[in-house]
Amino acid sequence: MAKLILVSADDTRARQMLALAQQADIQRQPQLVCVDPAKALAMAGLIHPSDFLVLQADEFDANVLERLRQRFPEPGDVPCILVTPAPTADLLMRAMRMGVRSVLRWPLDPREFNEELARVAARTPAAVQTEARTFAFSSCKGGAGTTFVAASFAHAVATQRGKRVLLVDLVQQFGDAAFVVTDKTPPATLADICQQAGRLDLALLDACITHAHPNLDVIAGAGDPVKAGDIKAAHLELILDLARPAYDVLVFDVGQDINPSSIMVLDHSDTIYCVAQLSLPYLRAGRQLMEIFRSLGYPAERTQLVVNQFDKHAPVTCRTLEDALGARVAHTLPADARTAREAANQGVPVLALAPHSAVSRAFTQMVDTVFPQPATRGDGLLARLLGHRAAPASSPSPSSPPSPAQTQPAARQPLTLGKQA
Ligand SMILES: Nc1ncnc2c1ncn2[C@@H]1O[C@H](COP(=O)(O)OP(=O)(O)OP(=O)(O)O)[C@@H](O)[C@H]1O
Ligand SMILES: [Mg+2]
Repeated sequence: MAKLILVSADDTRARQMLALAQQADIQRQPQLVCVDPAKALAMAGLIHPSDFLVLQADEFDANVLERLRQRFPEPGDVPCILVTPAPTADLLMRAMRMGVRSVLRWPLDPREFNEELARVAARTPAAVQTEARTFAFSSCKGGAGTTFVAASFAHAVATQRGKRVLLVDLVQQFGDAAFVVTDKTPPATLADICQQAGRLDLALLDACITHAHPNLDVIAGAGDPVKAGDIKAAHLELILDLARPAYDVLVFDVGQDINPSSIMVLDHSDTIYCVAQLSLPYLRAGRQLMEIFRSLGYPAERTQLVVNQFDKHAPVTCRTLEDALGARVAHTLPADARTAREAANQGVPVLALAPHSAVSRAFTQMVDTVFPQPATRGDGLLARLLGHRAAPASSPSPSSPPSPAQTQPAARQPLTLGKQA
């Protein structure tokens, strides 16, 4: 999802820009970030190459411009408007050299600002999607591999489709989801965020998030069962409200807990996966979980099965599981103990550690099914029969916004200086 990110350390000014931007037909999700532009540019995971920025500050020093250039390395095309009370000739020169779209004077002239934003809309058609697609991974029995599957899937979507993904660990007892994809120490946990719910905004949320990989952020679990009590449905709703416009995909590790807060997440999920294995205990427990889902009114197409540690010799087959649970097996993942163990020991996602392993290939296939790539001209019959992919794995899916590098470079707009108020 391409966004219009409005940045100012001054809360009132930020809100004034938001009010003006909302009057313009920009077809982008506006997002308010009330911090200093230099800080916003340093926030990992906040700004994507397909976003458009409006930065407001009393002055812009070389440090801010340098960070801006690093964010948008495409020469001559920085999708950004700088807004400042007294733009100097030096700032105008440097901004123009970098390819910044325009420099406007604060206070903004609404008509001029709207014209600039209209140019932005014309330049890069934003994706139609405005809210993140949400996946919940639940399990009917401990040890099914729910955390491993949820976290590895989140990482696979982020790296193979270039989507911005937020993984949220709802299971406070173990707090282990973050460590499936990173060895970084989380700056805060979900319980910490909920404790500060009263003053939660995007900047605070960002400070609490573990930026695991360029497109993958994680809200870690507490690893303390006592803290589970701090997490209320209202808190999660607040986090969802902030995260859904800011990310393309949300992945929740719900685990086995069915309580008011996890039900809130399940209610908001587009797809609810139940992770199971092919054995009788999973069959029995899975049936109960599906009954709960039915009693909560979730339609059958939303609740799907993921068979983990698939074994074709298991006494319970996928067909038996489907019949007993009344749900479709959407994905199967093989047992790959060595890769899973190594990845867990190193805090490296399986797809990064062993991209050609059986389990990594299964995650790639899962991503291909959930976010199919458009067929390209190069996908001839022979290539398809041989299973060759014409497009690189990292190219975006149909719902991904084109990155500036993929769109035709726009004709360079003249640098505009805002009118004196
Ligand atoms: N496909 C797989 N092949 C091999 N090992 C796996 C596979 N999936 C998961 N595991 C391993 O099984 C163990 C349990 O996995 P995980 O912690 O993800 O399960 P869980 O369902 O989240 O458990 P819990 O109920 O404790 O939350 C981990 O050591 C994980 O590395
Ligand atoms: Mg778990």
